[in-house]
Amino acid sequence: MAADKLIIFDTTLRDGEQSPGASMTREEKIRIAKQLERLGVDVIEAGFAAASQGDFDSIRSIAGLIKDSTVCSLSRANDKDIARAAEALAPAQRKRIHTFLATSPLHMEKKLRMSPDQVYEQARLAVRFARQFTDDVEFSSEDGSRSEPDFLCRVLEAVIAEGATTINVPDTVGYGVPEQYGAMIRSLRERIPNSDKAIWSVHCHNDLGLATANSLAGVMIGGARQVECTINGLGERAGNTALEEIVMAIRTRKDYYNLALNIDTTQIVPASKLVSQITGFAVQPNKAVVGANAFAHASGIHQDGVLKARDTYEIMRAEDVGWAANKIVLGKLSGRNAFKQRLEELNITLESEADVNAAFLRFKELADRKSEIFDEDIIALVSDEEHAHGNEFYRFVSLSQHSETGEKPTARVTFSMDGAEVSCDGEGNGPVDAIVNAIESKAASQAELLLFSVNAITTGTQSQGEVTMRLSKGGRIVNGVGADLDIVVASAKAYLSALNKLQSKNEKLNPQI
Ligand code: KIV
Ligand code: ZN
Repeated sequence: MAADKLIIFDTTLRDGEQSPGASMTREEKIRIAKQLERLGVDVIEAGFAAASQGDFDSIRSIAGLIKDSTVCSLSRANDKDIARAAEALAPAQRKRIHTFLATSPLHMEKKLRMSPDQVYEQARLAVRFARQFTDDVEFSSEDGSRSEPDFLCRVLEAVIAEGATTINVPDTVGYGVPEQYGAMIRSLRERIPNSDKAIWSVHCHNDLGLATANSLAGVMIGGARQVECTINGLGERAGNTALEEIVMAIRTRKDYYNLALNIDTTQIVPASKLVSQITGFAVQPNKAVVGANAFAHASGIHQDGVLKARDTYEIMRAEDVGWAANKIVLGKLSGRNAFKQRLEELNITLESEADVNAAFLRFKELADRKSEIFDEDIIALVSDEEHAHGNEFYRFVSLSQHSETGEKPTARVTFSMDGAEVSCDGEGNGPVDAIVNAIESKAASQAELLLFSVNAITTGTQSQGEVTMRLSKGGRIVNGVGADLDIVVASAKAYLSALNKLQSKNEKLNPQI
């Protein structure tokens, strides 16, 4: 029997971005969207157009650039949001409006303060209105897994009759368990007379660590043919279903699932690294498929087995998901052409030749200090260059720092603030504390530092350190990322990058409200 197609709907740029601190700039979103297109995802949910001007602009840019995937915007179930989504999606070759309304008794009564009849009516009208802009309309019954089946049948039948082409039943709070969630989708499909007019979709959160299992149960037991997921499982609280887990489960166990996918799996690890680097959300080493240890065999028995026959302990091949051994790609003697070619091979497009020149200059500086340059170094360098380019309010210039056993560390940091260069001194309990105190003596942000983490970008003591700083101020949480051979410099860059995000006026509404 020919395999059914499973639609991969990626919501890294929308639900993923709702993780505290994961907000991305338009340029960052465009880079991720292009990588998602290369990965072959069927639908890219590029954002929530009515949430902010920044989100609107990002969706519109992505809609104009992406050719091979459908571009989607989330919208609440009201005319204003839907019209805004349609406007943002206007340049797209293929567009989808995704409208949602909560259907659980708890959400209707406590959050929406609406009666079931009002919710029923609003859902119908929203889908009817969305259909004026596109034939591709998705309806999500928020908190679907905790909704009453009879009411859900009534609402979903009505929205399909109004023209919804995809029906998504989210497990919004990660409450579902696999057999029950799968059976619920199955029963809805069986009971709703026009259910065959729509594609059924699952959207699971990982609060109980069951998001992937629930999604797969929705597919196998329930007959869903779309899975909503994010790269690295990024998302609010414990995150969303991880795209890489769904894709590799379906592919590795084709014998069981018998489903076809459009995905180029060799693009999974590059996508994972890009998302982690941009958002500052590090991937845990033992994360399935994309964790640094996912293909490392430590025990002697396993190593011996793998050397004799790989499939003794390996169910997937590292190269099939895009893991290449750390490759030394360039060095001090590499010229501009070699650098430019490597950028192309990494699918990095810089806007102009002047940008390539600036990035090449940075590459040369790095190559002077580090003999072996890896792909990861180039990716970090390009991000840094983009930030420097983006007319940011704060920009790192230089620092000197002194630490000695028994002495309080001191630092002098020079950075530009709204175009003017300032230098400031600070001391602290450690070198990073000293640079933060120095910067704060001028920036006076009074933000609270929630997280400080350092990761080596590649292997060896010559590796660049990538620092993430998470700051909170006035209810906003942002992540800043900085990379350098000197982790104190990386920390200063990360702190300034977080301050830039706090400074940006790109406020968002929370779509779940
Ligand atoms: O989790 C959820 O319910 C959602 C919807 C808006 C689809 O993200
Ligand atoms: Zn969600």
